[in-house]
Amino acid sequence: MKTAVKESDILALLKEASGGAEPRLGRFISGQAISEKLGVSRTAIWKHIGNLRKAGYEIEGHSRKGYSLTSVKERPFSALEVSTNIPTEFIGKTVLFFEELDSTNSKASELARDGAAEGTAVIAESQQKGRGRLGRTWHSPTGVNIYTSVILRPKTPPQATQTITLAAAIALAEAIEGSSGIRPAVKWPNDLLINGKKVAGILTEMSSEADRVNHIIIGTGINVNIDPATLPDDLRLPASSLMEETGREINRTELIRNLYSSLEKWYKVLLTEGSSGIVEAWKKYFTLVGKEVRIEGFKSVEGICLGIDSSGALLIKDRSGAIERIVAGDMGSDPS
Ligand code: BTN
Repeated sequence: MKTAVKESDILALLKEASGGAEPRLGRFISGQAISEKLGVSRTAIWKHIGNLRKAGYEIEGHSRKGYSLTSVKERPFSALEVSTNIPTEFIGKTVLFFEELDSTNSKASELARDGAAEGTAVIAESQQKGRGRLGRTWHSPTGVNIYTSVILRPKTPPQATQTITLAAAIALAEAIEGSSGIRPAVKWPNDLLINGKKVAGILTEMSSEADRVNHIIIGTGINVNIDPATLPDDLRLPASSLMEETGREINRTELIRNLYSSLEKWYKVLLTEGSSGIVEAWKKYFTLVGKEVRIEGFKSVEGICLGIDSSGALLIKDRSGAIERIVAGDMGSDPS
Protein backbone atom coordinates (compact mmCIF):
# COMPACT_ATOMS: atom_id res chain seq x y z
CA MET A 1 0.00 0.00 0.00
CA LYS A 2 1.19 3.51 -0.83
CA THR A 3 1.44 5.65 2.28
CA ALA A 4 2.05 9.11 0.86
CA VAL A 5 -1.44 9.71 -0.53
CA LYS A 6 -2.59 13.20 0.31
CA GLU A 7 -5.93 15.00 0.47
CA SER A 8 -4.96 16.68 -2.80
CA ASP A 9 -4.82 13.26 -4.57
CA ILE A 10 -8.35 12.43 -3.44
CA LEU A 11 -9.59 15.92 -4.29
CA ALA A 12 -8.07 15.61 -7.76
CA LEU A 13 -10.04 12.38 -8.39
CA LEU A 14 -13.26 13.88 -7.03
CA LYS A 15 -12.82 16.91 -9.28
CA GLU A 16 -12.05 14.76 -12.28
CA ALA A 17 -15.17 12.66 -11.67
CA SER A 18 -17.35 15.71 -11.21
CA GLY A 19 -16.22 17.50 -14.34
CA GLY A 20 -13.16 19.48 -13.27
CA ALA A 21 -13.55 23.19 -12.80
CA GLU A 22 -17.33 23.11 -13.08
CA PRO A 23 -18.58 20.23 -10.96
CA ARG A 24 -21.92 18.73 -11.97
CA LEU A 25 -24.06 17.27 -9.26
CA GLY A 26 -24.45 13.54 -9.07
CA ARG A 27 -21.11 12.49 -10.59
CA PHE A 28 -19.79 9.83 -8.20
CA ILE A 29 -16.51 7.96 -7.97
CA SER A 30 -16.59 4.74 -5.98
CA GLY A 31 -14.40 4.09 -2.96
CA GLN A 32 -13.17 1.00 -4.80
CA ALA A 33 -12.04 3.10 -7.80
CA ILE A 34 -10.22 5.58 -5.56
CA SER A 35 -8.61 2.73 -3.68
CA GLU A 36 -7.38 1.10 -6.89
CA LYS A 37 -6.14 4.33 -8.48
CA LEU A 38 -4.22 5.52 -5.42
CA GLY A 39 -3.38 2.22 -3.74
CA VAL A 40 -4.89 3.14 -0.39
CA SER A 41 -7.34 1.39 1.89
CA ARG A 42 -11.03 2.34 2.08
CA THR A 43 -10.44 3.42 5.70
CA ALA A 44 -7.68 5.81 4.63
CA ILE A 45 -9.97 7.27 1.95
CA TRP A 46 -12.70 7.77 4.50
CA LYS A 47 -10.23 9.62 6.77
CA HIS A 48 -9.07 11.89 3.91
CA ILE A 49 -12.68 12.60 2.89
CA GLY A 50 -13.33 13.63 6.51
CA ASN A 51 -10.38 16.04 6.40
CA LEU A 52 -11.57 17.52 3.10
CA ARG A 53 -15.02 18.09 4.59
CA LYS A 54 -13.42 19.79 7.59
CA ALA A 55 -11.53 22.03 5.13
CA GLY A 56 -14.89 23.17 3.72
CA TYR A 57 -15.50 20.84 0.75
CA GLU A 58 -19.04 19.50 0.43
CA ILE A 59 -18.74 15.82 -0.44
CA GLU A 60 -21.71 13.52 -0.65
CA GLY A 61 -21.11 9.90 0.41
CA HIS A 62 -23.29 7.07 -0.85
CA SER A 63 -22.93 3.44 0.25
CA ARG A 64 -23.16 2.02 -3.30
CA LYS A 65 -22.15 4.89 -5.56
CA GLY A 66 -19.19 6.26 -3.58
CA TYR A 67 -18.30 9.95 -3.27
CA SER A 68 -19.30 13.09 -5.14
CA LEU A 69 -18.00 16.64 -4.80
CA THR A 70 -21.16 18.69 -4.60
CA SER A 71 -19.97 22.18 -3.75
CA VAL A 72 -19.39 24.54 -6.67
CA LYS A 73 -17.56 27.13 -4.61
CA GLU A 74 -14.93 29.48 -5.88
CA ARG A 75 -11.51 28.00 -5.24
CA PRO A 76 -10.43 29.04 -1.74
CA PHE A 77 -6.86 30.28 -1.29
CA SER A 78 -5.22 27.25 0.31
CA ALA A 79 -2.27 24.89 -0.19
CA LEU A 80 -4.70 22.19 -1.26
CA GLU A 81 -6.36 24.23 -4.02
CA VAL A 82 -3.08 25.70 -5.24
CA SER A 83 -1.30 22.34 -5.56
CA THR A 84 -4.14 20.02 -6.64
CA ASN A 85 -3.75 19.09 -10.33
CA ILE A 86 -1.31 21.95 -10.90
CA PRO A 87 -0.03 21.51 -14.48
CA THR A 88 3.65 21.72 -13.56
CA GLU A 89 6.44 19.21 -13.15
CA PHE A 90 7.87 20.54 -9.89
CA ILE A 91 6.91 24.14 -9.02
CA GLY A 92 3.96 24.25 -6.61
CA LYS A 93 3.65 20.48 -6.23
CA THR A 94 4.54 21.01 -2.57
CA VAL A 95 3.01 24.15 -1.10
CA LEU A 96 3.48 25.27 2.50
CA PHE A 97 0.79 27.72 3.52
CA PHE A 98 1.07 29.96 6.60
CA GLU A 99 -1.41 32.44 8.04
CA GLU A 100 1.49 34.68 9.10
CA LEU A 101 5.24 34.74 8.55
CA ASP A 102 7.97 37.31 8.97
CA SER A 103 8.85 36.84 5.31
CA THR A 104 8.16 34.02 2.85
CA ASN A 105 11.69 34.52 1.47
CA SER A 106 13.21 33.95 4.92
CA LYS A 107 11.06 30.84 5.44
CA ALA A 108 11.90 29.45 2.00
CA SER A 109 15.66 30.03 2.60
CA GLU A 110 15.41 28.17 5.90
CA LEU A 111 13.60 25.27 4.20
CA ALA A 112 16.13 25.24 1.33
CA ARG A 113 19.03 25.08 3.81
CA ASP A 114 17.27 22.10 5.41
CA GLY A 115 17.10 20.34 2.03
CA ALA A 116 13.59 21.17 0.70
CA ALA A 117 13.08 20.01 -2.88
CA GLU A 118 13.27 22.24 -5.93
CA GLY A 119 9.87 23.76 -6.66
CA THR A 120 8.72 23.89 -3.04
CA ALA A 121 6.56 26.98 -2.63
CA VAL A 122 5.84 29.00 0.49
CA ILE A 123 2.72 31.18 0.73
CA ALA A 124 1.73 33.49 3.57
CA GLU A 125 -1.58 35.27 4.09
CA SER A 126 0.37 38.08 5.80
CA GLN A 127 3.99 39.04 6.45
CA GLN A 128 5.27 40.90 9.49
CA LYS A 129 8.63 41.75 7.91
CA GLY A 130 7.97 41.53 4.17
CA ARG A 131 11.13 42.58 2.35
CA GLY A 132 11.47 44.54 -0.88
CA ARG A 133 14.53 45.23 -3.01
CA LEU A 134 17.32 47.48 -1.80
CA GLY A 135 16.38 47.07 1.88
CA ARG A 136 12.83 48.36 1.50
CA THR A 137 9.77 47.03 3.34
CA TRP A 138 7.00 45.23 1.42
CA HIS A 139 3.57 46.12 2.82
CA SER A 140 1.91 42.75 3.51
CA PRO A 141 -1.56 42.99 5.11
CA THR A 142 -3.64 39.83 5.48
CA GLY A 143 -6.17 38.18 3.18
CA VAL A 144 -5.98 40.33 0.06
CA ASN A 145 -2.66 39.87 -1.72
CA ILE A 146 -0.13 37.25 -2.80
CA TYR A 147 3.16 36.77 -0.95
CA THR A 148 5.00 33.71 -2.17
CA SER A 149 8.53 32.33 -2.49
CA VAL A 150 9.70 29.42 -4.63
CA ILE A 151 12.88 27.38 -4.13
CA LEU A 152 14.98 26.69 -7.26
CA ARG A 153 18.09 24.55 -7.42
CA PRO A 154 19.68 24.98 -10.86
CA LYS A 155 22.61 22.65 -11.46
CA THR A 156 24.65 25.44 -13.04
CA PRO A 157 27.38 27.89 -12.05
CA PRO A 158 25.95 31.15 -10.59
CA GLN A 159 26.78 33.16 -13.78
CA ALA A 160 24.36 31.02 -15.80
CA THR A 161 21.44 32.31 -13.74
CA GLN A 162 22.07 36.04 -13.95
CA THR A 163 18.82 36.63 -15.85
CA ILE A 164 16.69 34.52 -13.48
CA THR A 165 14.99 37.65 -12.10
CA LEU A 166 14.10 38.74 -15.64
CA ALA A 167 12.68 35.24 -16.24
CA ALA A 168 10.60 35.62 -13.07
CA ALA A 169 9.40 39.05 -14.25
CA ILE A 170 8.20 37.59 -17.57
CA ALA A 171 6.42 34.78 -15.69
CA LEU A 172 4.77 37.30 -13.40
CA ALA A 173 3.69 39.50 -16.32
CA GLU A 174 2.19 36.48 -18.10
CA ALA A 175 0.36 35.34 -14.98
CA ILE A 176 -1.05 38.81 -14.33
CA GLU A 177 -2.20 39.10 -17.93
CA GLY A 178 -3.77 35.63 -17.77
CA SER A 179 -5.77 36.42 -14.64
CA SER A 180 -6.60 40.09 -15.15
CA GLY A 181 -6.73 40.44 -18.92
CA ILE A 182 -4.38 43.43 -18.70
CA ARG A 183 -0.87 43.27 -20.10
CA PRO A 184 1.51 44.86 -17.58
CA ALA A 185 4.78 46.61 -18.40
CA VAL A 186 8.07 45.78 -16.72
CA LYS A 187 10.27 48.44 -15.28
CA TRP A 188 13.90 47.38 -15.04
CA PRO A 189 14.76 45.14 -13.45
CA ASN A 190 11.55 43.64 -12.10
CA ASP A 191 8.76 46.03 -11.13
CA LEU A 192 5.43 45.19 -12.77
CA LEU A 193 3.35 48.22 -13.73
CA ILE A 194 -0.19 48.78 -14.95
CA ASN A 195 -1.07 52.29 -16.11
CA GLY A 196 2.27 53.48 -14.73
CA LYS A 197 1.53 52.17 -11.22
CA LYS A 198 3.35 49.34 -9.48
CA VAL A 199 1.23 46.25 -8.86
CA ALA A 200 3.91 43.63 -8.15
CA GLY A 201 7.60 43.10 -7.43
CA ILE A 202 10.18 40.35 -7.16
CA LEU A 203 12.94 39.79 -4.62
CA THR A 204 15.49 37.20 -5.74
CA GLU A 205 17.98 35.83 -3.22
CA MET A 206 20.71 33.33 -3.95
CA SER A 207 23.01 31.09 -1.94
CA SER A 208 25.98 30.00 -4.00
CA GLU A 209 29.62 29.02 -4.05
CA ALA A 210 32.15 30.07 -6.69
CA ASP A 211 31.15 27.36 -9.14
CA ARG A 212 27.71 26.19 -8.06
CA VAL A 213 24.34 27.43 -6.88
CA ASN A 214 23.02 26.01 -3.62
CA HIS A 215 19.57 27.50 -4.07
CA ILE A 216 17.72 30.52 -5.42
CA ILE A 217 14.62 31.96 -3.77
CA ILE A 218 12.19 33.79 -6.05
CA GLY A 219 9.97 35.93 -3.82
CA THR A 220 6.94 37.57 -5.39
CA GLY A 221 4.55 40.12 -3.94
CA ILE A 222 1.40 41.03 -5.88
CA ASN A 223 -1.10 43.69 -4.85
CA VAL A 224 -4.19 41.73 -5.81
CA ASN A 225 -7.40 42.81 -4.07
CA ILE A 226 -6.06 45.55 -1.82
CA ASP A 227 -7.54 49.05 -1.81
CA PRO A 228 -4.57 51.18 -2.98
CA ALA A 229 -5.67 53.96 -0.61
CA THR A 230 -4.46 51.71 2.23
CA LEU A 231 -0.97 51.27 0.69
CA PRO A 232 1.79 53.37 2.28
CA ASP A 233 3.02 56.31 0.19
CA ASP A 234 6.02 55.52 -1.96
CA LEU A 235 7.43 58.68 -3.47
CA ARG A 236 9.44 56.62 -5.94
CA LEU A 237 6.54 55.02 -7.75
CA PRO A 238 2.73 55.18 -7.28
CA ALA A 239 1.21 51.81 -6.36
CA SER A 240 -2.03 50.12 -7.33
CA SER A 241 -3.67 46.70 -7.24
CA LEU A 242 -5.15 44.36 -9.84
CA MET A 243 -8.60 44.90 -8.36
CA GLU A 244 -8.23 48.66 -8.69
CA GLU A 245 -7.03 48.44 -12.30
CA THR A 246 -9.59 45.86 -13.49
CA GLY A 247 -12.57 46.95 -11.38
CA ARG A 248 -13.14 43.39 -10.17
CA GLU A 249 -11.88 40.98 -7.55
CA ILE A 250 -9.18 38.59 -8.81
CA ASN A 251 -9.09 34.95 -7.71
CA ARG A 252 -5.75 34.52 -5.94
CA THR A 253 -5.65 30.74 -6.37
CA GLU A 254 -5.93 30.97 -10.16
CA LEU A 255 -3.34 33.74 -10.27
CA ILE A 256 -0.75 31.92 -8.18
CA ARG A 257 -1.24 28.70 -10.17
CA ASN A 258 -0.68 30.71 -13.36
CA LEU A 259 2.43 32.19 -11.77
CA TYR A 260 3.94 28.82 -10.83
CA SER A 261 3.23 27.37 -14.31
CA SER A 262 4.75 30.34 -16.07
CA LEU A 263 7.74 30.46 -13.75
CA GLU A 264 8.49 26.81 -14.45
CA LYS A 265 8.19 27.42 -18.21
CA TRP A 266 10.62 30.38 -18.25
CA TYR A 267 13.01 28.72 -15.80
CA LYS A 268 13.25 25.79 -18.22
CA VAL A 269 13.89 28.23 -21.09
CA LEU A 270 16.76 29.72 -19.08
CA LEU A 271 18.24 26.30 -18.32
CA THR A 272 17.96 24.99 -21.86
CA GLU A 273 18.55 28.09 -24.03
CA GLY A 274 20.50 30.38 -21.71
CA SER A 275 19.84 34.09 -21.27
CA SER A 276 19.14 35.03 -24.89
CA GLY A 277 15.54 33.70 -24.92
CA ILE A 278 14.86 35.42 -21.60
CA VAL A 279 16.26 38.79 -22.66
CA GLU A 280 14.23 38.75 -25.90
CA ALA A 281 10.97 37.87 -24.11
CA TRP A 282 11.57 40.44 -21.34
CA LYS A 283 12.11 43.24 -23.89
CA LYS A 284 8.54 42.78 -25.16
CA TYR A 285 7.22 44.06 -21.82
CA PHE A 286 9.70 46.94 -21.56
CA THR A 287 8.42 50.28 -22.79
CA LEU A 288 11.17 52.77 -21.93
CA VAL A 289 13.64 52.26 -24.80
CA GLY A 290 14.45 55.65 -26.33
CA LYS A 291 13.06 57.53 -23.31
CA GLU A 292 14.87 59.86 -20.92
CA VAL A 293 15.46 57.98 -17.68
CA ARG A 294 17.26 58.39 -14.40
CA ILE A 295 18.87 55.54 -12.48
CA GLU A 296 19.58 55.69 -8.77
CA GLY A 297 22.13 53.04 -7.91
CA PHE A 298 25.71 53.04 -6.74
CA LYS A 299 25.76 56.34 -8.64
CA SER A 300 23.05 58.39 -10.36
CA VAL A 301 22.91 58.25 -14.13
CA GLU A 302 20.62 60.23 -16.44
CA GLY A 303 20.25 59.75 -20.16
CA ILE A 304 18.51 57.91 -22.95
CA CYS A 305 17.57 54.30 -22.25
CA LEU A 306 19.00 51.94 -24.88
CA GLY A 307 17.52 48.75 -23.41
CA ILE A 308 19.30 45.80 -21.81
CA ASP A 309 22.32 43.77 -22.87
CA SER A 310 22.61 39.98 -23.10
CA SER A 311 23.26 39.68 -19.35
CA GLY A 312 20.25 41.80 -18.38
CA ALA A 313 22.24 44.94 -17.48
CA LEU A 314 20.63 48.28 -18.38
CA LEU A 315 22.33 50.47 -21.01
CA ILE A 316 22.07 54.26 -20.76
CA LYS A 317 23.55 56.83 -23.11
CA ASP A 318 24.46 59.77 -20.90
CA ARG A 319 24.64 63.45 -21.86
CA SER A 320 28.27 63.12 -22.99
CA GLY A 321 27.32 60.29 -25.36
CA ALA A 322 29.08 57.65 -23.23
CA ILE A 323 27.22 54.38 -22.69
CA GLU A 324 26.82 53.39 -19.05
CA ARG A 325 26.13 49.76 -18.13
CA ILE A 326 24.05 49.50 -14.96
CA VAL A 327 23.77 46.22 -13.06
CA ALA A 328 21.84 47.33 -9.96
CA GLY A 329 19.63 50.23 -9.04
CA ASP A 330 16.24 51.78 -9.41
CA MET A 331 14.85 53.22 -12.58
CA GLY A 332 12.74 56.33 -12.93
CA SER A 333 11.50 57.84 -16.18
CA ASP A 334 11.21 61.51 -17.08
CA PRO A 335 14.09 62.89 -14.99
CA SER A 336 12.91 66.49 -15.43
C1 BTN B 1 10.29 44.83 -4.66
O1 BTN B 1 9.60 45.24 -5.60
O2 BTN B 1 10.98 45.60 -3.98
C2 BTN B 1 10.27 43.37 -4.36
C3 BTN B 1 9.12 42.99 -3.47
C4 BTN B 1 9.08 41.51 -3.14
C5 BTN B 1 8.06 41.19 -2.07
C6 BTN B 1 7.89 39.72 -1.91
S1 BTN B 1 6.46 39.31 -0.95
C7 BTN B 1 6.97 37.64 -0.89
C8 BTN B 1 8.47 37.63 -0.71
N1 BTN B 1 8.82 37.70 0.70
C9 BTN B 1 9.41 38.84 1.02
O3 BTN B 1 9.80 39.17 2.17
N2 BTN B 1 9.56 39.60 -0.08
C10 BTN B 1 9.03 38.95 -1.25
